[in-house]
Amino acid sequence: WTGEMSSLLAEAPAHVAKTCYEYDKTITSFFFTKKCIEQTKNFKLRSDDVFIITYPKTGTTWAQQIMMLVQVEADLSFFEGKHISKLVPFLEYPDLPDSGVYKTVAEINTAPTWVEAADAMPTDTPRILKTHVVQRWLPEGLKEDPQAKVVYVARNPKDTAVSYYHFCLLVTDLPNYTSWDEFFEEFIADRVPGGSWFDHTLSWWKLRNHSNVLFLTYEDMKQDSRKAVVRIAEFMGKSLSDDIIDRIVDASSFKFMKKNKSTNPDAAYENEMDNKNNKSFMRKGVVGDWKNHFSEDQNRRFDELYQEKMAGSGLELRFE
Ligand code: A3P
Repeated sequence: WTGEMSSLLAEAPAHVAKTCYEYDKTITSFFFTKKCIEQTKNFKLRSDDVFIITYPKTGTTWAQQIMMLVQVEADLSFFEGKHISKLVPFLEYPDLPDSGVYKTVAEINTAPTWVEAADAMPTDTPRILKTHVVQRWLPEGLKEDPQAKVVYVARNPKDTAVSYYHFCLLVTDLPNYTSWDEFFEEFIADRVPGGSWFDHTLSWWKLRNHSNVLFLTYEDMKQDSRKAVVRIAEFMGKSLSDDIIDRIVDASSFKFMKKNKSTNPDAAYENEMDNKNNKSFMRKGVVGDWKNHFSEDQNRRFDELYQEKMAGSGLELRFE
């Protein structure tokens, strides 16, 4: 991969420009190929589809685990021998082989895709589908007036940025930022893969009252996980007993997901991850870790940007 001409990436560090490209005014990783993005845009919805849509690192995997558990009514045997990252199609991503990652760009470009896998899924059970793409890259039926259910999880952008920075150090298909300071500048310039946290979050906040949208926040989920499970179950049209709800809360806790091989994404990314320094996808799972990363100056600059972008939106996120 040698990168492509892009006005947005012109000011990015050279190594970022080499591993990303600009597609329709948003930066994306070379792993999210044009073919995958175009297939995502043209994805054929089914009326009983349930989407988990998020900006990266905001609690996607956690919500996905809850949604799967709701669907199988906490029957843990369903997960045996399976892996969390293989259970839910990740629309804009190539379908990675079990053996590891693709080694060349040509291999990635011709790889089977998750959209193709999702198209082939049986119609007897509602599909749970995951995507991070910006709203304008979604199929028509998911924009403005969503015709399928969408769970959206927002997370305060300071913790999101910190989580994203660590994730980039972990996987090889994202830029390997040389420092937190470098990542911070890229994040506030909307040059990280996935684009602007503000645009992504606000585009779904606008649809929060739509009957097919459940807008949750990571911080609320942390504060009252049971309530989040109940809300997701109701949204998915499932009436579950207290006992099943309790078991879902337990099997979607950070502790449970980290210690179980099938629910800890590390196992699927083993070949892709740089595990040398004992890093893990299930990193901290807390609210407020940004305080260990943001300098005073970065915090002041970020707060100014936040005020400017979020003013009048009515969205109030907790930072601690
Ligand atoms: P940290 O890096 O802050 O620990 P995503 O799934 O969207 O990539 O988000 C990953 C983030 O969610 C990571 O945040 C991860 O630790 C956290 N996470 C994953 N499962 C969780 C759970 N069950 N409870 C709380 N946080 C969880």
